[in-house]
Amino acid sequence: MSTSPPPGRRAERRAARPIRRDITIDEWPEAGLVIAGGPADPRASVKVDGGRVVEIDGRGERDFDSIDRFIAARAIDPAVAQEAMATDPLEMARRLFDPSVPAAEARRLFAGLTPARLVEVVWRLDVLEMMLALRKMRLRRAPANQAHVTNRRDHPALLAADAAEAGLRGFAEVETTVGVAPIAPLNALAVLVGSQVGRPGVLTQAAVEEAVNLRLAMKGLVSYAETLSVYGTADAFRDGDDTPWSKAFLASAYASRGIKARFTSGSGSEALMGHAGGCSMLYLEARCLLVVKGAGSQGVQNGAISCIALVEALPSGVRGVLAENLLAAALGLELASGNDALSSHSEMRRSAKLMLQLLPGTDFVTSGYSLMPRGDNLFGGGNFDAEDLDDWTMLQRDLEADGGITPVREEDVVAVRERAARAVQALYAELGLPPIDDEEVRAAAAAYDSGDLPPRSQAADLAAAERFLRSELTILDAIAALERRGFGDAARALLALTRQRAAGDYLQPAAILEPRGEDLAAVSAINDPNLYSGPGTGYRLEGRRRREVAAVPHAQDPRRIGRTAGSRPLFREGGPAASGVGPEVVVAVGPAYGLRIEETLAGLTHRDVIESILRGIRDEGVRARLVRVRGTADCARIGHEGARLSGSGIAIGIQSRGTAVLHRRDLAPLDNLELLSQSPNLTLESYRALGRNAARRATGRESEPIPVKIDNTARLRLIVHTTLLHRIEVEAVEAGAPLVELELLPAGRKPGGGGGAP
Ligand code: 5AD
Ligand code: CA
Repeated sequence: MSTSPPPGRRAERRAARPIRRDITIDEWPEAGLVIAGGPADPRASVKVDGGRVVEIDGRGERDFDSIDRFIAARAIDPAVAQEAMATDPLEMARRLFDPSVPAAEARRLFAGLTPARLVEVVWRLDVLEMMLALRKMRLRRAPANQAHVTNRRDHPALLAADAAEAGLRGFAEVETTVGVAPIAPLNALAVLVGSQVGRPGVLTQAAVEEAVNLRLAMKGLVSYAETLSVYGTADAFRDGDDTPWSKAFLASAYASRGIKARFTSGSGSEALMGHAGGCSMLYLEARCLLVVKGAGSQGVQNGAISCIALVEALPSGVRGVLAENLLAAALGLELASGNDALSSHSEMRRSAKLMLQLLPGTDFVTSGYSLMPRGDNLFGGGNFDAEDLDDWTMLQRDLEADGGITPVREEDVVAVRERAARAVQALYAELGLPPIDDEEVRAAAAAYDSGDLPPRSQAADLAAAERFLRSELTILDAIAALERRGFGDAARALLALTRQRAAGDYLQPAAILEPRGEDLAAVSAINDPNLYSGPGTGYRLEGRRRREVAAVPHAQDPRRIGRTAGSRPLFREGGPAASGVGPEVVVAVGPAYGLRIEETLAGLTHRDVIESILRGIRDEGVRARLVRVRGTADCARIGHEGARLSGSGIAIGIQSRGTAVLHRRDLAPLDNLELLSQSPNLTLESYRALGRNAARRATGRESEPIPVKIDNTARLRLIVHTTLLHRIEVEAVEAGAPLVELELLPAGRKPGGGGGAP
């Protein structure tokens, strides 16, 4: 008669938490639902014959599939394969990890490893070791970031404004895509122009069908492409009518037009397509990365990308994502490390996963940070979006980790958004595209999302987009148009960007462009390489960049918190306080009370607090006497010194921040009858009750302690203010100064205006 007990109530609460909306599954290796160690993963081997790789991972040349053939011919360096494969995998893992082994040496050996061995090596490292290895192996010295800019209405003014904001915030690349396919050229144009208004040199791309994308490239409307997907099995390739050669050909086509190309791969895609063939995700990704390398691409975006939620459903999924990031860097590929698609319902889980790329730094910490709210993200919702920007910049500030996003002031954001929308408005007018009116510009500058923009005919924009694509118009016409309409800065930035496309410097590995005077300069793994070799080397967040990252606009100046100008004195300060006689309550205030500070942490005025205490004492028919303690800022001592002078031996001590104590002469200074320590939660009624309790004690009666309120966030919210108010109180201390009598001045009168003590 065993029935399982009902779940505990805490378990019910846990089951309702966001993390439990994430689908979590056990491994199923035969279906490819396993990160490493799939039943069909081969054992690592290599054979080199006559300078050619003729066996990979147990398969001889004659049994090669198209991927094996491609990577044997183009990706695995026959000159080092035997040396590298003869090295113990654990030893290779150590060289990858060890900061004293130069990245170039590790990379030389990695060029000789087969897919199965790549996995064997990287999987010997735990997450922390992989992070250190990635820090060493990533290509460019300084990390950067990529933004997504889209909206569900494909609105040109909003696209331009968002792209400009992305530029202002420091994103090095901006990726857009389309709601409806034919709009592509106009979306690319708006994002391109907007981005250069934000910051000259931002690289932009449009994720659209490849033939269209190439035409956009030839018109000068995009600067890079990231759409070349590769897969780890020939069957998955075949589903997309592709082979490694067709992808390599496409990459060369982009490069030949000065377009920086980056491939896309990442765990999970083969299982998703039903073509994992019993292989593990990491093994298939290792094959992908060798295809990317063999195609001569300078870089890759991986880290599961769109398949992240499938990968994270499995044990070791997040470790596996880091492993594939590290493999890319170890193979010398520029790395855009994922963190783009929504990976979890849990903010804790999303942030924790981000640390794996944010802390080592990568060439692009996200493959697309959603600059706009998630609802406008046409890439299926961003993992981090417009509303998370302050979280992101705070993480950078906390950890001194550069995630490629610069904190900016809201007025600068709105100004640059407006300017970008105006530029696109002028451009549309000059090129005869459907007009953008002033209301659209203003709405785009201030919008939360595309829902805030006035109606606009998508049909007219689509027709114009198709005409524009067919026309002879190129970026040069757009540049001339902007120049004519007074957008000279944007025109010059676009011209500089177009010149770069001819020069091709930014086809170097991991290149991004930075403004240099009137021109642009490529910053890449060639001219600014990551040369990390342990503490004191490599990229550090310091100097100007540290100041920039620390300067989040919501940071307050601590020198200005808590100080008041001293509007109207609360007390008349009298002579030295004498010992009292009879049943009185002494109310002793701290050195700054009512002088340099006028409010408690709870925001109650010092006058209201004192009046409430006095009222409470009066409620019980007892006399009160006000004194100021000047020799200490400590609450217990303020109370105790007051008690020593009190005729009844009872005193209330109160600090400027509002902390109050009920004290008695015969107690030790740090002991007390009652302490109201949660000053942020005290109300005037609490102070009045404290006055009543003091009066009852002064006349030999019992008193009911004031109920303690528990507020777990009080310290979190107010510790800074507590510190700063206390600092002011401490500043006001005059060591050894005697207590003085105080007279409460009536409200609303000038000092000396009379009025007696209560
Ligand atoms: N492997 C290969 N391609 C991927 N993409 C997304 N995730 C992966 C992956 N894990 C591609 C999509 C789309 C773009 C967002 O990147 O197919 O083209
Ligand atoms: Ca991307």
